[in-house]
Amino acid sequence: MKRITGDAPSGRVASGFSRREFLRGSGAAAAATALVGAGEVAAGAQDADKGDGVARGKITVVLDVNGAKHEVQAEPRTTLLDALRNQLHLTGAKPVSTDPSSGAATVLVDGKPACAASMLVLQAAGKKIQTVESLGGTKLDPVPAAFVSADAEQCGFCTPGFVVAVRAFLNEHPKATDDEIRSGLNGNICRCGTYANIIRAIAIVRGG
Ligand code: FES
Repeated sequence: MKRITGDAPSGRVASGFSRREFLRGSGAAAAATALVGAGEVAAGAQDADKGDGVARGKITVVLDVNGAKHEVQAEPRTTLLDALRNQLHLTGAKPVSTDPSSGAATVLVDGKPACAASMLVLQAAGKKIQTVESLGGTKLDPVPAAFVSADAEQCGFCTPGFVVAVRAFLNEHPKATDDEIRSGLNGNICRCGTYANIIRAIAIVRGG
């Protein structure tokens, strides 16, 4: 049967590059582009795959963090938490666990709480990321202010994750009862056991 592609019988074209290799080689770039959209992959995606089906190397990805655009260098395995802490120096979210079981790496992604330790940079591109740092500074959010008033921390390692989770929860449930708050925050763990004071802090924000 006559071949209509022009490939040699071995599947290799005149350049020595096989169609299968081409499809594999373009896979990483296509996957990265599909995940983040062409606008957020600034450079390097075409080099991410050597034709063996294994994506490698770094690409430049634009992240929208706390209202500003930032370029970060990301391998396919780079987590959002790694990029926030090691490239953007936003160290509020903590690397306690690689899954969401501690809640210490909680950030807001398009307004919803998410675990930055288990989200890849490529998944975060094109979304609005909000870290605990956005709730501090000169325009202090009532949630961290109430944590201070209620003495709702000891070592403080869980606190940024709690503050972000509480902010997200109260945004959706401003009049939640204590039981609803306990249920809504059950993804965040405090090894120092400051739960009672965290509930007091939330009561302050809630208005009693
Ligand atoms: S204050 Fe130490 S883990 Fe919560």
